[in-house]
Amino acid sequence: MPETPPVLPPAARRDEESYLSFAEGLRAFTQRAVAPQMTAIAEAQLRAAQPASLEEVKRVLDPLPIVAARNRLMRSTQEMKWVGIHEAYQACEAELLAALDQADRQGPGSVSYDPAFDYPAYFREARFHLQPGGYWQHPLAGLYYHSGTNIFFTGRNTNDAIQRDLVALIPLPADSQVRRVLDLGCSAGQSTTALKERFPQAELWGIDISAPMVRYAHWRAIQLGLEVHFAQMKAEELRFPDASFDLVWAFILFHELPVAIGQQVVREVYRVLREGGVFALADFPNRPPEQAASLAGYLRHFDTTDNGERYGSAFVYSDFAGTLREAGFRQVVLDAAPGNWIPLRVCVK
Ligand SMILES: C[S@@+](CC[C@H](N)C(=O)[O-])C[C@H]1O[C@@H](n2cnc3c(N)ncnc32)[C@H](O)[C@@H]1O
Repeated sequence: MPETPPVLPPAARRDEESYLSFAEGLRAFTQRAVAPQMTAIAEAQLRAAQPASLEEVKRVLDPLPIVAARNRLMRSTQEMKWVGIHEAYQACEAELLAALDQADRQGPGSVSYDPAFDYPAYFREARFHLQPGGYWQHPLAGLYYHSGTNIFFTGRNTNDAIQRDLVALIPLPADSQVRRVLDLGCSAGQSTTALKERFPQAELWGIDISAPMVRYAHWRAIQLGLEVHFAQMKAEELRFPDASFDLVWAFILFHELPVAIGQQVVREVYRVLREGGVFALADFPNRPPEQAASLAGYLRHFDTTDNGERYGSAFVYSDFAGTLREAGFRQVVLDAAPGNWIPLRVCVK
């Protein structure tokens, strides 16, 4: 796979760079050293207590010092990350904003957004991953999000590795025709550019509800020399004609939508796909609701309360497979890449 040149502008000062590297190291330590021990202790306590509800699980786990330490570290490293990122880019904010303005009018590719866009309350009121101003309020939210994911994924997201690896797993339509591809909830456009690399002849579209995201994604695609079109759009109200795409992709979008909005999005995807087109998505695994009384349910709940993932638990314990089938997809494979770190669902219209 060819190298992608890094496009994140460097932090303005070494101080901030080392602060961010400390936050990333602390997060990696939490995940790789603290979490396994916490899991062993928590599982043993839950086996002994046999809790029947999430509330009972909380009563068992909350008082355990190693659980409290893990939770504190997970939350604090997220908070530190945002402080560090804002400080890192503050000194060069004016230049970055000017670069975004200039990129708006440049190619390859294009970007469109509406400065008066009316963000729906379910999105406006969420503060995913505790990002200050959410995904949309700060004009540099796209750059901040992209920087943040590098820390969040503790070294696994350099060079768009996560998106490139996932996109490589998407199966082709039966007739192998891939002329138009749509990436839903594209954020910084890392999946979108990975898709363009995989399907260089195809017309690529990345849409996101957030204007700062699509603007940053376009700026980034220009740096990579890739022709991709980005547009501010709600995934539940796609402004594309029926049957106009061969492939639709969504990476970690659905767990950030209220369940009812997710259902609308699936129906829209079905509408814009042509007959035989493929809808592939990678997201949190779904579980039967009775499994919420578990360590996994507890951690998912923590992510909801302490990491801004306001709709994460509802998505995980919803009947998402039912949603995909009810939309009309004639083939629905819920785990198309067994053993992958995140389940890949693949549906065919
Ligand atoms: C976790 S990020 C997705 C990451 C991205 N797909 C990637 O490949 O790195 C979720 C994105 O979904 C966007 N989003 C949330 N609700 C949306 C909606 N209703 N329609 C379109 N995008 C939405 C957010 O603005 C955010 O950029």
